[in-house]
Amino acid sequence: MDEKKIILSGIQPTGVFTLGNYIGAIKNWGKMQEDYECAYFIADLHSLTVYQEPAKLRKQTMDCFALLLACGIDPEKSLIFVQSTVNTHAQLSWILSNVTQFGELGRMTQFKDKSEKHPDNINAGLFTYPVLMAADILLYQADMVPVGADQKQHLEFTRNIAERFNSRYGQTFKIPEPYIAEAGARVMSLQDPLKKMSKSDENANGFISILDDENVIINKFKRAVTDSEREIVFREGKDGINNLLTIYSVLTGKTIHEAELEFEGKGYGDFKLAVGQVVADSLKPIRDDFARLSKEKTYLEELIAKGAETAYKVSNRTLSKAKRKVGLI
Ligand code: TYM
Repeated sequence: MDEKKIILSGIQPTGVFTLGNYIGAIKNWGKMQEDYECAYFIADLHSLTVYQEPAKLRKQTMDCFALLLACGIDPEKSLIFVQSTVNTHAQLSWILSNVTQFGELGRMTQFKDKSEKHPDNINAGLFTYPVLMAADILLYQADMVPVGADQKQHLEFTRNIAERFNSRYGQTFKIPEPYIAEAGARVMSLQDPLKKMSKSDENANGFISILDDENVIINKFKRAVTDSEREIVFREGKDGINNLLTIYSVLTGKTIHEAELEFEGKGYGDFKLAVGQVVADSLKPIRDDFARLSKEKTYLEELIAKGAETAYKVSNRTLSKAKRKVGLI
């Protein structure tokens, strides 16, 4: 029998997940659990590259862990862990940084964007961030990495590093493939549809947090920026409408064309309300599950400890191999 393919992905605990995180990544993570061997983690080490208030980061990490469960990631089916509880990641990252060139890290768009956004804190971690991400992936010999479109460059970097390491030291890492869904890989801000939806947006109307309640969600959709036309069709230049149609289509399972037909002749106001309602309905079960799970502290702590143990066992096999290959005793 064929062995199941290995899937791995992570998310930063820098705030409550957005509708973008959900549609672009987590929704697919849940589906993949049925057919693959999956590992999902909270990337708290990555979050340190932008200053985080310590107490807040701790709380958010716990909340995000509970949120993953609420989103349908099942600890019976998938390995779920918190990155900083597994020390192999930082160790492999150091080894990989020695086969990484300064120039290739400087070309990363996320590094350039974040440097612009935080000009007073362009730290070394921000620069070497993709190396840690490569370690996350390569440690588990992942076949596929389900991410949104913004992570594509980091995945290409990971593949390059793995190939370089393998050709210098002999076969050590599997070369992972990005898995980027066709629809919803880049959910845009509701206030500026040319910008991706992000939890760090200073305008809270730009993003939907998956814990926003129904009224808040509907109001944010009512205010969503569209265009001065009247037609609800997916067409180049209609970025706001395209974004809303995509969200609607991914959450209802209807095609974009079916959605266009459904709203033919209707006004933008009705359309925005309908999209808001679908989003609110889709997120309600997650909100309810989160309210219950986030109170079960002991259960969450046990799961985190169990996840750390299993993740260490699995990842240490690769780390030991990599250490031997480069000549560490
Ligand atoms: P993060 O925390 O920024 O985002 C988590 C996932 O959500 C996707 N995403 C989006 N998808 C569609 N539309 C959007 N507006 C949107 N915003 C975010 C992201 O593409 C991502 O898949 N570096 C990663 C975390 C990470 C990781 C890894 C991922 C660390 N190590 C190893 C995969 C494998 C990050 O910051 O994701």
